[in-house]
Amino acid sequence: MKTVITYGTFDLFHEGHYNLLKRAKELGDRLIVGVTTEHFDEARGKVNVIDPIMKRIENVKNTGFADEIIIEDHEGQKIEDIQKYGADIFTVGSDWVGHFDYLKPFCEVVYLPRTPEISSTKIRSGKFKVIRIGIIGTGRVAPRFLYEANYVSGVNVDCAFNPDAESAGAFHKKTGLKVYADFDQFLKKVDAVYIASPHETHYLYAKSAMEAGKSVLCEKPMTFSRAAAEELYALAEEKGVVLMEAVKTAYCPGFQQLLTVAESGKIGEICDVEAAFTRLADPASREVTDSEYGGSFLEYGSYPLLPIIKLLGTEYEDVHIDSLPSANGNDAYTKIQIRYANAMATAKTGTGVKSEGQLVISGTKGYILAPSPWWLTKYFEIRYEDATKIESYHPNFMGDGLRYEISQFMLKINGVDTRGYRLTAQESIAMADITERFMAQREGSLSIAED
Ligand code: CTP
Repeated sequence: MKTVITYGTFDLFHEGHYNLLKRAKELGDRLIVGVTTEHFDEARGKVNVIDPIMKRIENVKNTGFADEIIIEDHEGQKIEDIQKYGADIFTVGSDWVGHFDYLKPFCEVVYLPRTPEISSTKIRSGKFKVIRIGIIGTGRVAPRFLYEANYVSGVNVDCAFNPDAESAGAFHKKTGLKVYADFDQFLKKVDAVYIASPHETHYLYAKSAMEAGKSVLCEKPMTFSRAAAEELYALAEEKGVVLMEAVKTAYCPGFQQLLTVAESGKIGEICDVEAAFTRLADPASREVTDSEYGGSFLEYGSYPLLPIIKLLGTEYEDVHIDSLPSANGNDAYTKIQIRYANAMATAKTGTGVKSEGQLVISGTKGYILAPSPWWLTKYFEIRYEDATKIESYHPNFMGDGLRYEISQFMLKINGVDTRGYRLTAQESIAMADITERFMAQREGSLSIAED
């Protein structure tokens, strides 16, 4: 009895997959097929998989060739499986020639000729038209966005917009992208926009772009008030376009895993979430000098608010805000305490005060500690009363993380992800609500100071 094992994503099941499984089965008597999880695919950089895992399994099953289907969810699993299932032959398509030779000490490795001219990637790009994105604002994040978009299929960053001729010229020189100074002309050239302009311009650009029927990925903070955020999400609905707030962490695979682990019951009931993000800013930077729209909270507040709102929800009972002012009148350090019926949370941000940038989620049975940079979520651990018992997680993280956000934006535009559970409109609106309270309090404390 010869056992054969093979692995794949089997997204948008096609003839190449069918042929591969058929020939794999013919190599022996029993065929085991490993299907990758979404998390594993994301972690190894395959960020555009369309079919959910159950559908991909179902498609493999329907061929009738697989005697057993298993799930592949981590690096190094193939060796474990070969031993566990007593596989005699490992096989994959010829696109992998040489790649799996390291398995030869464990079993025979056979590379089967790949079916020409067909792949999931090819079907994905034919299924959806390439989305043309334009970048609004040509500051620090714009070149990074351009670079990271290269890792997402089905998207083309076509041009940019900046009314300031000097910045526009510099960006064009650096990237070769055409930069428009006329907004309407710019909008005509794109299907969607990424808004990376100064904070105070986000709302108006998002609104104008959506009114013209364009989908919007908007840097944080998207708006400064609940009403403005509600208005934008309602407009997106009305126009049938996608509106997504670019809180990068929300779309990172490691952060998704952290949320799942936190909600799994392993640490019991969640009672407290404490999150901090501080970065001492250059004294000449906008974060420091802009008295109205600079400061630590407007710059970084979305990061610590994200795990709080994701884990404890949008129905908070009380929000207490405290800040230390900077010399420019904005906040050098802000601490926000949020009270829920059965839990509490703290968000800390600093541009003029340095603190430990960590995320701690405390529960009735244990706690999760995610050290800096938790907002990229490359590592976190669970700790318990028994200090010798620590469970460590090392999620994968590629590039600077923007590719995950861009990929999600594409999935939503193409109608593949319609629920947007990674950051829902309600969650984004709750962040705007806290931002509004922060702005109101700052106004209040300024007028008290003026009195
Ligand atoms: N395969 C094949 N012939 C093809 C496409 C895939 O023999 N034309 C094989 C692969 O070599 C692999 C298995 O099918 O052994 C599963 O491949 P998978 O990566 O899921 O499919 P691709 O179409 O190659 O996916 P992608 O384009 O996303 O890389």
